Amino acid sequence: MCGIIGYTTRKNNSVEITLNGLKNLEYRGYDSSGIALFNGDKIDIIKSKGKISNLDEKLKQHDTTSCCSIAHTRWATHGEPNETNAHPHHVGKVTLVHNGIIENYATLKEELKAKGYKFQTETDTEVAAAYIDYCYSQTNDKLKALVEACKKFRGSYAFNVLFEDEPTTIYATRKDSPLVIGYSHDGNFAASDISAILNYTNKYSLINEGEFVKITRDIVTFYDKDLHQIEKKSETATWDAAQYQKNGYDHFMLKEIYEQPKVINDIFDRFYNNCSYKDIDLTKYEKIHIVACGSAMHASLVGKYLLQTYGKIPVMVEIASEYRYSEELITPSTLLIVVSQSGETADTLAALRLAKEKGAYVVGIVNAVGSTIAREVDKCIYTYAGPEIAVATTKGYTSQVAVFATLALIAMEEKGLLTDEMSKTIKEDLTNVEKNINSVLENREKYLDIAKDIYKHNDLFFIGRGIDSSVCMEGSLKLKEISYMHSESYSAGELKHGTISLIDKGTPVISIATDDKLFEKTVSNIKETKARGSYSIFVTTQNHGDDFSEFADKTILLPKTTDFTQPILTVVALQLIAYETAKLRGCDIDKPRNLAKSVTVE
Ligand code: M6R
Repeated sequence: MCGIIGYTTRKNNSVEITLNGLKNLEYRGYDSSGIALFNGDKIDIIKSKGKISNLDEKLKQHDTTSCCSIAHTRWATHGEPNETNAHPHHVGKVTLVHNGIIENYATLKEELKAKGYKFQTETDTEVAAAYIDYCYSQTNDKLKALVEACKKFRGSYAFNVLFEDEPTTIYATRKDSPLVIGYSHDGNFAASDISAILNYTNKYSLINEGEFVKITRDIVTFYDKDLHQIEKKSETATWDAAQYQKNGYDHFMLKEIYEQPKVINDIFDRFYNNCSYKDIDLTKYEKIHIVACGSAMHASLVGKYLLQTYGKIPVMVEIASEYRYSEELITPSTLLIVVSQSGETADTLAALRLAKEKGAYVVGIVNAVGSTIAREVDKCIYTYAGPEIAVATTKGYTSQVAVFATLALIAMEEKGLLTDEMSKTIKEDLTNVEKNINSVLENREKYLDIAKDIYKHNDLFFIGRGIDSSVCMEGSLKLKEISYMHSESYSAGELKHGTISLIDKGTPVISIATDDKLFEKTVSNIKETKARGSYSIFVTTQNHGDDFSEFADKTILLPKTTDFTQPILTVVALQLIAYETAKLRGCDIDKPRNLAKSVTVE
């Protein structure tokens, strides 16, 4: 949550470049933003409530000639999202931007008040600025001040810090929040992620936990926690700036939905041609734990279904924020799979660290290359879905499902469960996946048509059985997060145990039945809702015919494939229903209220 960037340059355009970079970080949080710039040897701070475009407007009234600036886009944790609480924060000689949470800020605040410090905001970050200022007043050494202050901070942070007596230099450090250093022809950067700097450079270095960096326009110097200078090699980013553009689509979400045929095809292609994870021995473990948050957890539920049903391996899926406090579940013979698009989710990271501490082997399914989770797991399987900008994940989720499909195949192979005939059928299915997803994406009108039926309602239900019930959970989350419509996802058989009392005349129910052996059962459950007056939207596969008028008001027909790709096809249809509904409701689709793309706080 929150995006930070700092840039120091031999030119006078740091504000323009910092602000451009900040716009690419807006997906990380967007309730307020601000910038601090060296104006000669004094620091000016300009802040604004709301999106970065407001800050942009405000900056037009200022002289923004500057060769060094730091900026922030916020997802509020402490204090309401107003201008006062917006970053940067300034105390004494220190001005800084922060991504993370200082958990013990209240104690530190009292300590600092006793020393005479006064506070203007409700934020934990102002306390961090004051503490660094205090340490600087004691040590008269900027790096030592940072080291000493960080020893005191509990929680997570990535900081870009300016000291008013050293114009043009940025100091930076991080713990549990991401930060990369970028090297361009005219100067150097420190930013939350590579997307912020790709327009100017693709050369970067990653900062490890607890390292400190001094960044001037000519040179970047890295230090370990004891302030011994360390060498860093620079890396070259493979993602390019064009991938951060909408490329003609109305929204990033739509663009990312349409990228799925290729992303998924590439995963299956790599699996058959140069798979880098076939060596993971899934059969060695009695039980696999899969841990993730949000949509990644929903993808894990599909993974559980595939690994259990086809690989015959018992699997437990747990939400990371719960698993991180369940150490009794983990032993050295546990295989933990953590799943994360961003590779930065705080709870998932904590779960992985706990498991490693307990001696477990940890595999990551991660999209963001070089992210913290990717670096800390024993084995990383990259989904290589490319940058995902829309807050609501689409290709992030389906690429995780695709990786689980390949893991289930590996388990089947290892256990001798994959007959030649099955292998042929599945391979044919995986080979056709691009074509099949494209056919679901065709004729967007039918999704708009359904959206028109439902967008004025306040409540909606998703029901399904087996693998479809996990897909329902993702469909429901997609609709909720971008359209602000309340919806619930229920296993179809569970509805009559209470929830059916909510079904009334006209209540929309989206039901999914792609599993042949459960088809009749699900249809019975749909009829039960229909008998109570529901408006029935039915999603099924072409092999079941095309006339469902007895119990369906609208039908979406999907190509019939194997379980290894069927959930992907189904969810694409649900993504488009959510997208069209949110559009009709006039919502900010790429940046839904109260959310942020990367959840780096607990
Ligand atoms: O980056 P991660 O995959 O770890 O993120 C997990 C969740 O925060 C994420 O999937 C969230 O639920 C999305 N908003 C869903 O669209």
